[in-house]
Amino acid sequence: MGVSMKRFIAFSASLLALAAVCSASPSSDMEKKVSALLSKMTVEEKIGQLFQSDGEANGNARPEHFELARKGLLGSTLNVRGVKRVNELQKAALESRLAIPILFAFDVIHGYRTIFPVPLAEAASWDPAVAEEGASVAASEARAAGVRWTFAPMVDIARDPRWGRMVEGSGEDTYLGSVFAAARVRGFQGADYSAPGKVAACAKHFAGYGAAEGGRDYNTTDISEQRLRNVYFPPFKAAVDAGVATFMTAFNDLNGVPCTANRWLFTDILRGEWGFTGFVVSDYTAIEELVKHRIAKDNYQAAALALKAGVDMEMVSKLYSGNIQQLLKDGNVSMKDLNAAVANILRVKFKSGIFDSPYADPAPEGPALLTAANLAAARRSAVKSFVLLKNEGDLLPLSGKVERIAVIGSLANDRTAAMGSWNGDGQAEDVVTILDGIKARAGDKIRVDYAKGSGPDDQEGEDIRAAVKAAKKADIVIAVVGEGPLMSGEAASRSSLSLPGKQSDLLAAVAETEKPVIMLLMSGRPLDLSWTPYRFPAIMEIWFPGTMAGPAVADVLFGDVSPGGKLPVTWVNNVGQVPLYYNAKSTGRPYSQGNKYTSHYFDGPNAPLYPFGHGLSYSTFSLSDLSLSTGAVRQRDSLSVSVRVTNTGAREADEVVQLYIGARSSSVTRPVRELKGFRRVTLKPGQGEDVQFSLGPAELGLVRSDMKFAVEPGEFAVWAATSSVGGLEGAFSVIR
Ligand code: NOJ
Repeated sequence: MGVSMKRFIAFSASLLALAAVCSASPSSDMEKKVSALLSKMTVEEKIGQLFQSDGEANGNARPEHFELARKGLLGSTLNVRGVKRVNELQKAALESRLAIPILFAFDVIHGYRTIFPVPLAEAASWDPAVAEEGASVAASEARAAGVRWTFAPMVDIARDPRWGRMVEGSGEDTYLGSVFAAARVRGFQGADYSAPGKVAACAKHFAGYGAAEGGRDYNTTDISEQRLRNVYFPPFKAAVDAGVATFMTAFNDLNGVPCTANRWLFTDILRGEWGFTGFVVSDYTAIEELVKHRIAKDNYQAAALALKAGVDMEMVSKLYSGNIQQLLKDGNVSMKDLNAAVANILRVKFKSGIFDSPYADPAPEGPALLTAANLAAARRSAVKSFVLLKNEGDLLPLSGKVERIAVIGSLANDRTAAMGSWNGDGQAEDVVTILDGIKARAGDKIRVDYAKGSGPDDQEGEDIRAAVKAAKKADIVIAVVGEGPLMSGEAASRSSLSLPGKQSDLLAAVAETEKPVIMLLMSGRPLDLSWTPYRFPAIMEIWFPGTMAGPAVADVLFGDVSPGGKLPVTWVNNVGQVPLYYNAKSTGRPYSQGNKYTSHYFDGPNAPLYPFGHGLSYSTFSLSDLSLSTGAVRQRDSLSVSVRVTNTGAREADEVVQLYIGARSSSVTRPVRELKGFRRVTLKPGQGEDVQFSLGPAELGLVRSDMKFAVEPGEFAVWAATSSVGGLEGAFSVIR
């Protein structure tokens, strides 16, 4: 066969492949644009679109980026940011033969410059508007700095607090996680992510990453398909339904196939079942890691596995660039595989509007960042995220009689720590510390002494004496203790949940003074408080509150606002109970006190220290008048549930009404309780409100052993409650 014949055959084959790629909806304008551009691209240019290269940590592009961009071989970058840098590199891309713009990505997780509370904290607000607003502000700041795509939201269910990345998601519950996943996608993208102030979002890490064995990051996972579908998948599906532009693979091995090589996940489920039309990016060097996973014998095979699985873009490693040409020649991947990946990327690029306006607005981004409105939003969100775990004798809010406060613990005065991990372009100098917030609110009448005492990174406790001295002179002690910002987040797994460093010694020494101590816990996960002397009457989890940490903490301590957050994760008593989550199944031998042969630990409690959904307020609330629209609902219908919540205390405050169901029997066992609705309401003293929920097929159904979602006839209990324990109980049945 002559060279020209070979070329002709190759050309026809690629046209056919192209037609196949675009056959999904050939008539749409978008698909026409995508296929027109694709048909002009050389194989090298196509492979170039699949490459995402890492910029420098400070936001600079690397010198080689310009050369790649000019040749049309750089699809995307991560970390390159700032109007000037982004526009310089984009200019190089627009000089390339086909002028395909670069998509600039960055981990904008809980703020770009104005740092909001960490995602787990936002979930503790039980108010999706908090997450939506946080994402929206983050998007507007990031976009002003030239970023068009964020690697968020992380929607991994996390039931193991040893896993440091619990801090990045919405906690342990599928329903809460799904509501927050959708809210964040809406916040980042709006209705159209090309619109000013919006960025493309990325649901990550698909899938099961939070179930790493032993809570050790990157570790293997083995999760039944039924559990994947009932527990781990729904937040991802919620992100797809909210229109998320992209997905990221997870690092872990899932049931024997690393996610980054898992065709079932990315092709069968994501595109086949859920109809996702965006693109999939690998996690950082995750394609190369397929060799270390021992699923691929070399880079060549790793590239083939990932591309065939449906992973469109490769983050940082260069296996696609290095191997796809050869893989095509050898027939180990097809032009159809390559075209599909390129088309997916181009579709998102078109939708993001970068073909029409590739450059960031040349006005310096400064004025768009850290605006008064953004800071106010961050402060409100932080306030809403605090969870008052304990408040004996109503020690909080601080009473008018307090004249002298001792603030102890280095975290009280740590700007960087307050931002937590993944702090975008947040700058320490922007942060108002907890100490400064308390001082500002205390004014002239209350004296505030600070003593460092100890902090999470200190191995010496030499300042403890100074802290004790300050405590002795004070009416009340505010101890700010917890974890450093990088003790949770990626690669930050722990085998113990105790307070790091000498902080327990600090607290023990301060407890000796017999002064009332308010403990503010800064952490990205529940910590082991089993050692906590019972003398500490008040404990509030403040997570990592962000730029406005100080004012937010002061708002709540001084009672300007009542706390109203609720735990999005079960607070274990000790690490030996892990994993412990509220929506567990019953077992055949549910624990019964005094009966040895029931499911329990003989050396400690089954119960958590604080249950999922728990959180106190400065006011009190009562639930009453639980009523159901029917006692028997047909499988395809919905019933409504109404409950009255009344503020029975003396101050305006928030309560989160939570709705749980429990199936008495079903074809496969279900958790004893499942959250199916929640509403955070603000009520004045004496004020009441009827809160309505709807329970329809989406809430009542489950994925059965045939992997089909179905609503089964049977009896259900329903609880309206203020945590996952107790509540008003009703009953209904589902009938054919
Ligand atoms: C690795 C992390 O797992 C992922 O969440 C993040 O988006 C990428 N690195 C990029 O920074």
